[in-house]
Amino acid sequence: MKKILLAGLCALMMGALPSRAQWGPRAIPEPTDGLKDAYKDYFMVGVAVNNRNVTDADQIKLIKREFNSITAENAMKPQPTEPRKGEFNWEDADRIADFCRQNGIKLRGHTLMWHSQIGPWMYQDENGNLLSKEELYANMKHHIQAVVNRYKDVVYCWDVVNEAVADSPVYPGRPELRESPMYKIAGEEFIYKAFEFAHEADPKALLFYNDYNDAEPAKSQRIYNLVKRMKDAGVPVDGIGMQGHYNVYGPSMADVDAAIKLYSQVVKHIHITELDIRINEDMGGGLRFNQGQAQVSDWERTLQQDQYVNLFKVLRKHKDVIDCVTFWNVSDRDSWLGANNYPLLFDSNYKPKQSYLAVKGFDPKMDNVVVKEDFKPSELNQPGQEYPMVNSQGYARFRVNAPKANSVIVSLGLGGSGGTVLHKDADGFWTGTTAGPMDEGFHYYHLTIDGGVFNDPGTENFYGSTRWESGIEIPAHDAAFYAERDVPHGNVQQILFWSASTNQLRKAFVYTPPQYEKNKKKYPVLYLQHGWGENEFAWHVQGHANLIMDNLIADGKIQPFIIVMTYGMTNGVRIGGLGGFNYNDFQTVLCDELVPYVDGHFRTIAKKDSRAMAGLSMGGMETHTITLARPEMFAYYGLLSGGVYTPEEIQDPKQVKGIFIGCGSKEGPDRIMQAAADLQAAGFNAKGYVSEGTAHEFLTWRRCLYEMAPMLFK
Ligand code: XIL
Repeated sequence: MKKILLAGLCALMMGALPSRAQWGPRAIPEPTDGLKDAYKDYFMVGVAVNNRNVTDADQIKLIKREFNSITAENAMKPQPTEPRKGEFNWEDADRIADFCRQNGIKLRGHTLMWHSQIGPWMYQDENGNLLSKEELYANMKHHIQAVVNRYKDVVYCWDVVNEAVADSPVYPGRPELRESPMYKIAGEEFIYKAFEFAHEADPKALLFYNDYNDAEPAKSQRIYNLVKRMKDAGVPVDGIGMQGHYNVYGPSMADVDAAIKLYSQVVKHIHITELDIRINEDMGGGLRFNQGQAQVSDWERTLQQDQYVNLFKVLRKHKDVIDCVTFWNVSDRDSWLGANNYPLLFDSNYKPKQSYLAVKGFDPKMDNVVVKEDFKPSELNQPGQEYPMVNSQGYARFRVNAPKANSVIVSLGLGGSGGTVLHKDADGFWTGTTAGPMDEGFHYYHLTIDGGVFNDPGTENFYGSTRWESGIEIPAHDAAFYAERDVPHGNVQQILFWSASTNQLRKAFVYTPPQYEKNKKKYPVLYLQHGWGENEFAWHVQGHANLIMDNLIADGKIQPFIIVMTYGMTNGVRIGGLGGFNYNDFQTVLCDELVPYVDGHFRTIAKKDSRAMAGLSMGGMETHTITLARPEMFAYYGLLSGGVYTPEEIQDPKQVKGIFIGCGSKEGPDRIMQAAADLQAAGFNAKGYVSEGTAHEFLTWRRCLYEMAPMLFK
């Protein structure tokens, strides 16, 4: 969330910000380096290109920045290179090969023998009869060797045979291999021959067997079996190409991991040769082009990003055997799947997606982190609910029962990721753990199940983002200041007051300190506002304002005062609409209706010097405006992640007796501290405070209240 918050005052003013994923794709600045650089210690990052890609200046720039291996998407395949026997067509292949030669980019050869995109002359006569084995091998040899010879100065590896293994299910008695014409003529031997011909032409080239559904357990076993038989027969096969045409629902990373482990028992080189992750459930090489939706939803983007991030994590783990990962096409516009399937890291305008940043911006340290298995139920869980859980490192783990769902996302997650994607266990429960430790303190969240928004039945609900959200508490190391202790406790009571200006009965919560009922004393009052999306419950429920006060009073750190918490009328505002927010209505309710009501019904010191106003986020914005507009009302001002005061805007320095400005260390604190220093320099009693290790969230504001309270009413 940090970057959004830095973006400007507007964002800084917002209370419970919705997760990134709800905002749609954000423009990402043009990268200065590429995926190849991010992965230089792991493997090459390649891309499949067409003719346009290597002739358009902008696309060339992108390719050179991002990738250090290239595959010709179609140009080197059997049919394009030799549509009719002996009639070679090198134009497209040469252009791509020359591009690689000129730019010093490595070239993967794809592909020499495939049942698709192959001239029928290879395996049948003019009458459609299959050729003899000898004729087939002669055709294969002359074709394979012509292509390999032509590019052997620049091609470092070849997908020699493509997609020769049968798809699942393979019924008993059926062959493990695809019944292609070549197979029908020569059986498995045609595969061996293809490798031998290629090796003869270029003994230095690494030779791959390449296939799809490469992580599906049954098919990967068949791929392994084939390559194992080849190895045992002395066939020059060096590697296995996992095409990697995946989707956002599968394969599971456990299956990818298992397949890589299996393949690495028989080859020393594994390439991911054709990576894309489509947003629908089609798998493999089925060419059903227009299966995508017209519009990709934010939650689907989150699923895709999660699948990409987790896949690259598995690939990094296997860097000893994986030496190249190639994307199948440059951008969604080029994708063989059609742009609607949204499969790549660059969108239809060749702009990087959020998932590009996530794939690139991995933290190597996090790859080896061991998550401690000391998870305990979150303290905010409903009675008897085990999940969500929190561990001692601050990781959160979720478990949701949704047996018929296709996807479950928790909106809570790490910076910009759009949340934590849960995965389905065998028992129909969805579980998942945040990718890293969460900030200490309270967090709102919700579930997105197949695109619909729900609360987690495991936890209590808290009003934020203009709805009752689920909440989780990551225990803070300094939680003692709001802990439930055996000390005298004040009360929080609901009051109802008639507001003539809005013609409504309005509500507020009033904290009265311990002893209030027992003595006759009069007390100062702090009017304390919540943020955007929240309401009058926020400060005493998720903020623990009453407990913070009780503890401060018990420890003798403050003189007791009353706190009044009412709804700031902020929730009609939509994101981006803050500029047009009208403060007058709330100003009237607060200053001309609520304050007189409170002074009339509680033992307050009904004077300006004993009145303070403070607010968090958008409540800070309200505080700022109202304190300046009505200087006769309040003597102490507090802005909590809610902007700053400048000396110039305070007309009469004597109008204010104390100013508190605070925020979290993760929300650009420099401005806050500078503003406090400026105010002090101008002679104001001002205090700046930065909450370490927190962002725009409630632990920041709990701490701010704790730091601010002692300076009020002095
Ligand atoms: C695809 C190309 O991207 C398309 O342009 C073409 O029409 C069909 O082939 N597995 C492979 C690739 O090995 O060669 C295929 O490429 C995608 C599936």
